[in-house]
Amino acid sequence: MARAVSGDASWRGIAFCGLGVVAGVPIDRILEKSVNLFSPVTLGDLDLPNRVVMAPLTRSRSGRDGVPGDIVVDYYRQRASMGLITSEGIYPSFAGQAFVRQPGLVTDEHIAGWRRVTDAVHADGGRIIAQVMHSGRVTHSDKTGGRTVVAPSAIAIDGETRTYEGKEPYPVPRALEAAELPSIIEDFVQASRNALVAGFDGVELHGANGYLLHEFLAPSSNQRSDEYGGSAQNRARFVIETVKAVADAIGSEKTWLRISPEHNVQGALETDPIVTEATYSALVAGIAPLGLAGLSILHKNPSGDLIQKLRTGFGGPVLLNTGFETITTLDDAMAVAAWADAVVVGRPALANPDLVRRWEQGLPLNEPDFATFYTEGPVGYTDYPFWAN
Ligand SMILES: Cc1cc2nc3c(=O)[nH]c(=O)nc-3n(C[C@H](O)[C@H](O)[C@H](O)COP(=O)(O)O)c2cc1C
Repeated sequence: MARAVSGDASWRGIAFCGLGVVAGVPIDRILEKSVNLFSPVTLGDLDLPNRVVMAPLTRSRSGRDGVPGDIVVDYYRQRASMGLITSEGIYPSFAGQAFVRQPGLVTDEHIAGWRRVTDAVHADGGRIIAQVMHSGRVTHSDKTGGRTVVAPSAIAIDGETRTYEGKEPYPVPRALEAAELPSIIEDFVQASRNALVAGFDGVELHGANGYLLHEFLAPSSNQRSDEYGGSAQNRARFVIETVKAVADAIGSEKTWLRISPEHNVQGALETDPIVTEATYSALVAGIAPLGLAGLSILHKNPSGDLIQKLRTGFGGPVLLNTGFETITTLDDAMAVAAWADAVVVGRPALANPDLVRRWEQGLPLNEPDFATFYTEGPVGYTDYPFWAN
């Protein structure tokens, strides 16, 4: 057993769990495969030196114009030793901006700003893909420059959103006409092209966490009666069309998709397991022939039936993230590596620019500071220390 690869501490962690499973994965399966966490892998046209992928993490550090500046360059450069960096969610159109101070990929200034980020990451030996996300109804007209908030159906999220003027109730979105959908897809395509011009190594389409693409998948947010709603195949249709269009435009080997079935956040509820399985099975069947670079799945039980079926149905590289409820640990990551080609890690990468080294060598970790996740400036952003020696 090649235990030196992953560090003594983690192996003790597995041995002590005592139940024979970690994150739902039998230990014998973990021991068989998890040594791969720090080994290289090729995904799409990218060679990763290790399988620890930085999750997309919104940090709200760009200006109101959405142009990433010097501290954003520093933040991503610091994390160049990750196997792969996924950028924070980036809007493809002003109508799709979800957060205050979120970066965009719409204007020449956005592209130039991101070019400085990707150049810095590449100069330090890293790889970075852009997560392109449309907010759907998870926004407010204050953040979209007065543009109408749109979604599959005219159903508001129950709750409030942070705007530049303080917290506001989520608005009732306008239901998109079927005839408008090609122009939304074109926004995703153009932003993906812009991402490559900006030097990104690929694009991850954000189909998770209740934003526009996920709103089409979830029955609670999609109550359409046309060909984009009503059945599993219909709910999956818009996401499949978007992924195909982007893959056609930039190459399937540069196209990734993130999904989070049953995550049940921001009003995108998937509470009927039969419906959920049917919807996501239709989705993976639709995208499987494309030969995408990777399907990134956020789910708290990756060894359960649903994710195993989706993994098999997709047939290509799968990346897994065990999710929000607890912060991913090294033991979680090693357990998940039994099922995945790579492991997606959020808050530990946020707080530890040198996470791969720390995990591999069994070093202590910095703790993430929740209070500064979405604030301005370098505090809680670029000031997390590297391991000293
Ligand atoms: C501060 C913060 C910002 C996030 N922003 C995004 C985002 O822009 N896009 C996305 O798909 N997920 C986002 N997520 C979810 C993370 O990618 C990840 O799934 C989550 O943090 C769980 O993984 P972890 O336990 O390793 O942190 C965010 C999470 C946090 C904590």
